[in-house]
Order: sequence, then structure tokens, then C-alpha cells
Amino acid sequence: MSMTLLTVDKLSVDFGRGATALHAVRDLSFCVAEGETLCIVGESGCGKSMTSLAIMDLLPRIARRSVAGMTMGETDLTRPGGIRAVRGNQMAMIFQEPMTALNPAFPIGDQMTEAYIHHSGATPAAARARAIEMLNEVGIASPEKRLGQYPHQLSGGLRQRVMIAMALMTSPKLLIADEPTTALDVTIQAQILRLLRDLQKRLGIAIIFITHDLGLVSRIADRVVVMYAGTRVEEGNVAEIFDNPRHPYTRALIDCIPQPGKTERGAMLGTIPGVVPAMIGDVRGCAFRTRCALATAGCEGVIPTHGTGSHQWVCLHETTLQEGTT
Ligand SMILES: Nc1ncnc2c1ncn2[C@@H]1O[C@H](COP(=O)(O)OP(=O)(O)OP(=O)(O)O)[C@@H](O)[C@H]1O
Ligand code: SF4
Ligand SMILES: [Mg+2]
Repeated sequence: MSMTLLTVDKLSVDFGRGATALHAVRDLSFCVAEGETLCIVGESGCGKSMTSLAIMDLLPRIARRSVAGMTMGETDLTRPGGIRAVRGNQMAMIFQEPMTALNPAFPIGDQMTEAYIHHSGATPAAARARAIEMLNEVGIASPEKRLGQYPHQLSGGLRQRVMIAMALMTSPKLLIADEPTTALDVTIQAQILRLLRDLQKRLGIAIIFITHDLGLVSRIADRVVVMYAGTRVEEGNVAEIFDNPRHPYTRALIDCIPQPGKTERGAMLGTIPGVVPAMIGDVRGCAFRTRCALATAGCEGVIPTHGTGSHQWVCLHETTLQEGTT
């Protein structure tokens, strides 16, 4: 059993207060072990980005965070300055659209070295050497030349590689990647996934990989947290989630993945009917009940957690649901 790197205990993120409060993240708990890839998956609006921003303490000002406990290694992230002590060195983040994180006015070399010099106190020459090393690490050819280029001179895939290289400058133990491949075309997406997998193996970093695409999860995850309407509905290792999904929402997401050889070319891909409801005011019961074929009156009450060890799910029903019931 590997060591736990990050623990998040009962994280909530709210916008507003009282009857009109929007609960973007609700009592979410999970942990990440050293060197593993944890995928957080769920449809748009499930609270994935708010979760990662809450961990990095980068939430919008109007958002309110509450958390029972949060630690990274020995560091208590809930005490004042706790997150600042690890962010940008032990813990780094990459985003869906690298253009929003890169400054168009400066060459990428300056951007890669600036934060590094700030955090490590390295000389500009040492920082430049480190930047070249990291661009090499992410498979960018002629790194010396790239350092002088501006973000708009790079393709989307190269920009995402630069973002990853930048995140690696300080040898982080944890990389949080929020939909890092969603803006890229399929071939480049596959290359970036391979790169992340490879970096993780070679450098031993843990990754929180956030995506709405369960198809990607099977290619990169060790463990999976399935989120719905701000909360965790199922958690398990990748085999448990794909071979024995128990929550109706997980099943519905899996049914949406095209099956090679089974799904006809050009066939309509499954989507789950309906939308993720906004969790406003006093929320109770299972949030999936507006879309769940198995919902009964009991789903408006307190919902139990089932399973043991690594595989757990939150649903009224404990037994395996029959095939094709979602
Ligand atoms: N600035 C804001 N003010 C109010 N509500 C917000 C704000 N930002 C996000 N939300 C709400 O918080 C909830 C969670 O949003 P979040 O961005 O975390 O979803 P997500 O799972 O990352 O979705 P996506 O896959 O689209 O990125 C949504 O209901 C969203 O409308
Ligand atoms: S608790 Fe009820 S509504 Fe929610 S997933 Fe289970 S059966 Fe469906
Ligand atoms: Mg998001």
C-alpha cells in the first residue's frame, strides 16, 4: 500500500447563502496516494473545477469553501498559509485552455523561469537550464529555440506540453489536470495522455485527472471518483468501476462510451437524458433521482453508502442492478 499524499475531508463550495445558496461541491471526501492517478469524472456542472480550485485555494472570491480537513503530506492545508506553502512547488495545476494560463505578452521562457526563480531562489541561468530540461522531458524538440517564442507561435498541443513542463519545473508531487485534453483534437489528445502517463511513471508524481469523458478514464486512471451534482456517488479502482459499476449514474456514463466493434460507426452515441440539476437551497435525497430509472420515494430521504474497502457507492439499492436498467 502506498503512502497517502493528499486527503480531502468533507469539502463544500457554496455560492451565496440560505435559501438561494448554490451548492457547487457537497461534502466531498477523497484521497490521493503517492504516484497514483485519480480521475474525477462527471458531466458538465458537477463541480469538478470548483473542487480543484478549492484544493489550490484559487476559487472565485464570491465562492465560500468549507472543509473538515485537508492535508498534503505533513502540511495541514486548512491552516492559514498552508496551501500557499505547497502551491506552485509541491502541487501544480494545468488547465483545459493553456492560453488562459499563459501570458501572450511574454516569451514562454520568461514565464517558465519566473515562478521557478521566485520559489527556488535559482539564478536566471540555472532556471533557464531547468526550463530546457523540462521542455525536453515533455518531448519538445529544440527547446532553446522554443524558450524565445510567444504562446501564439505554438500549436494547441505544444502549448499544453509547455504548460506541463512549466508545472514540472519545481518537481511537484501532485499535478492537478482539469480537462487538459478537452480543447485538443483526438490525435494530440492521445499524445498528451501518453505523456502524462509516462511522466507519472518516470517521475513518480500523483495526478488528479479531471474529465467529463469516462472513455479517457480507462486509459489513464488507477482509481476513479464519480461525481454527480457536487458530490461523490461512486469510488473505486479502475477495474471496479468499469467491470462492476454499481451506481446508476456510473452505469449510465459507461453506457455513453462508444464500444469498439460494438457501436456501429455513425450510430447515435448515448447521452443521459436530462441535465444535472442545480443544487440550490436546502438539498436532500439523491440528486440523481430526476434522471434515474430506478428512483422510488425512498430516494428523497437519507441515502446509504454501500461497499467496502476501495469500492463504495451511495444509492438506495445495494444489490447489483440488472443489466440494462438504466
Ligand atoms: N462564479 C460562479 N458563480 C455561481 N455559480 C458558479 C460559478 N462558477 C461555477 N458555478 C456553479 O458551480 C457548479 C459547478 O461548476 P464547475 O465549474 O465546478 O463544474 P465542472 O464539473 O467543472 O463542469 P465542466 O465540465 O463544464 O467544466 C455549477 O453549477 C456552476 O454553475
Ligand atoms: S438513490 Fe435512488 S435515485 Fe439515486 S441513484 Fe439510487 S436508485 Fe437512483
Ligand atoms: Mg470544469
